[in-house]
Amino acid sequence: MKLEFIDRLNGNELLGKNIFTGDGRILLREGTRLTESYITKMRDMGIFYVYVEDERLKDVQVEDEKISRLKQTTLENMSRIMKNTNMISDKKSMSDYIKTVEELITYIQENADINKSLYDIQTSSNLTYVHSIDVCIMATFIGHAMKMDRFSIKELGVAAILHDIGKTQLPKEIAEKQGNLNAEELARFKEHPYLGAMLIKKNLRISDNIIKAVQQHHERMDGRGYPYGLEGKAISKFARIITISDVYDTITNSKDYKKAFSPNDAYELILAGSGTIFDENIVKVFRKSFSVYPLGCCVKLSNGVEGYVVRQNENFPDRPIIRVIYDEQKKDIEPYEIDLVKSINLVITSVV
Ligand SMILES: [Fe+2]
Repeated sequence: MKLEFIDRLNGNELLGKNIFTGDGRILLREGTRLTESYITKMRDMGIFYVYVEDERLKDVQVEDEKISRLKQTTLENMSRIMKNTNMISDKKSMSDYIKTVEELITYIQENADINKSLYDIQTSSNLTYVHSIDVCIMATFIGHAMKMDRFSIKELGVAAILHDIGKTQLPKEIAEKQGNLNAEELARFKEHPYLGAMLIKKNLRISDNIIKAVQQHHERMDGRGYPYGLEGKAISKFARIITISDVYDTITNSKDYKKAFSPNDAYELILAGSGTIFDENIVKVFRKSFSVYPLGCCVKLSNGVEGYVVRQNENFPDRPIIRVIYDEQKKDIEPYEIDLVKSINLVITSVV
């Protein structure tokens, strides 16, 4: 299958992977033939690209059923909890919920493949809590790549899923406001890390590491973050990891289609913030852990030819193996493969 931008679909394609709604239900099943109205619906939901079948890329398989299923269960539980705020103060519901999250984290720990594609992690939705799952998955991958022990990874993942829970304590008009907040609203908004930490401290038997991570997830390495303006190592390691995952996820999921960063631009932005916003060493791990160009993605090379990413190269997130299918004039050619680790004179110039 291949990855196609939604605006380039002409209808009639076969969907390669299930599409989920924000609360974890399946919106469209893989194998569905896409129509104009399905495409419009996906665009309205903020979905920018989908996997569709392609004869020339039959061997490219990106589906990890188990992770999708676990993600779906986590989403369903989370959606129940978030719709019923009483449940947040119900210790039993919350600890049941955390158990399902831990299952997801354990699965990632045991099956984490290097160079996980950043595109695969994203869930398209406007709901804050949905993104907490993406942040959790990404943080878990980073923790795994940092060779943290199993217990710490679990704590990190739980902290990541709960990081924005303080937003449930803000007035809806502030938490869900589209567009800029005024000074007063912004001051309230900036309380959410603290409110979240207090909420979980009160309702859950949870370690100080998790509470600290929730409380510090908007701090920056240079001390210009909030709420405390902590600097460098004074910020907990979990918080430093969650910040990277959270920023990445936020900028790639802007509600405004035109303002959203593509994963490769967002990736560059994270690298640019290394040392000032983000912890340099964690950025290095982030760089090694995720692939920039996902499997099935069409790219243009510096010699003018175009092709699809068919395999990743471990430790070279931006140098995958490309199956070239178009020449410089964009004419179909007999496909051949280029390994960008071996062809060091070539680079990917754009996603097309
Ligand atoms: Fe936040």
